Amino acid sequence: MFDLFEKRFVINTGKGGVGKTTISAAVALAAARRGKRVLLMDMSAKERFSRIFGSKPLSVEPLEVEENLFAVRITPDEALEEYAIMKLRLKTLYKAVFENRFIRTFLRVIPGLNELTLLGKAWHEEQARDPMTGRPVWDMIVIDAPATGHGVFFLQIPDVICSMITSGPMYQEARQIGDLVHDPRRTALNLITLVEEMPVNETIELKQRLDDALKVPLGFVVANAIYPPLFDAHADLMEKLDAAGPVEGDLGRMLDAALFRRKRVELQRTYLDRIDAEIDLPQIHIPYYFTERFDFMTISKIADQIDRQASAVVRDSA
Ligand SMILES: Nc1ncnc2c1ncn2[C@@H]1O[C@H](COP(=O)(O)OP(=O)(O)OP(=O)(O)O)[C@@H](O)[C@H]1O
Ligand SMILES: [Mg+2]
Repeated sequence: MFDLFEKRFVINTGKGGVGKTTISAAVALAAARRGKRVLLMDMSAKERFSRIFGSKPLSVEPLEVEENLFAVRITPDEALEEYAIMKLRLKTLYKAVFENRFIRTFLRVIPGLNELTLLGKAWHEEQARDPMTGRPVWDMIVIDAPATGHGVFFLQIPDVICSMITSGPMYQEARQIGDLVHDPRRTALNLITLVEEMPVNETIELKQRLDDALKVPLGFVVANAIYPPLFDAHADLMEKLDAAGPVEGDLGRMLDAALFRRKRVELQRTYLDRIDAEIDLPQIHIPYYFTERFDFMTISKIADQIDRQASAVVRDSA
């Protein structure tokens, strides 16, 4: 039985612009509304959550943007600094080492280091316990993953490290991060896609690669921005008018627009069928929202959709 809201580590991935940030915000909001204490982590270059939640700009300090919902934005440099200070214990030592121009340049070229420090930071938050009660500080951590290649490369890094070094503190940490990333009880990786030809093809490919190599527990395929059907009740009428020959004036243009929309809906249906046929995962369908500003109201509606559809999956599998 797959219950998204029982996971502690929810990662949302997908190609650029498919809705990772939007869906991450909505998943976090839905969980917070269920009373979970949620940390929403922005690891992308441009920070959108503060606009969505109407808060101050985010920083490395968790900010409560809604009841139970905290958001942070962390860059690789900040994560590395935090980690290094934790390890070296002394800020002055950190400054001496990491603010050295040559060392910085050297660090920048280590492949995967940025992603590893970000993932390490997320793991650290997952491990955090309240000193008084011993309870986890966060019930759920939602990650808006950076768009590196397919956006999942960074999840492989702990395994890569463990295959290169086989003992010592670095190994231990990489091992524990890897354990979290592979743990189906705690982790779910959602695949976000638009319902268009290229994004759907790439999501199918990504799923295959994940099955073959990465072995990260998967959650939902989130099919985002689906056009709701319009004038379905008048489909016959539309066809008859269209078949009767050109319709003049505004009525003709309206008919064209309606037919165009219908074709788009049909086309999206074929891509949804492809997802059905090729990706063996539960789905969440999010409509396209025609709004001037993509604000909290819209995220709130998407959160409701996610909550309802995720609950249905739990019910159906029970
Ligand atoms: N369901 C939807 N209906 C309408 N517009 C949407 C929907 N989902 C996302 N959008 C819009 O699409 C754009 C891209 O969404 P978003 O920023 O969430 O994608 P992303 O995958 O995080 O992008 P990036 O890779 O650039 O970080 C935004 O302008 C967002 O408001
Ligand atoms: Mg984004």
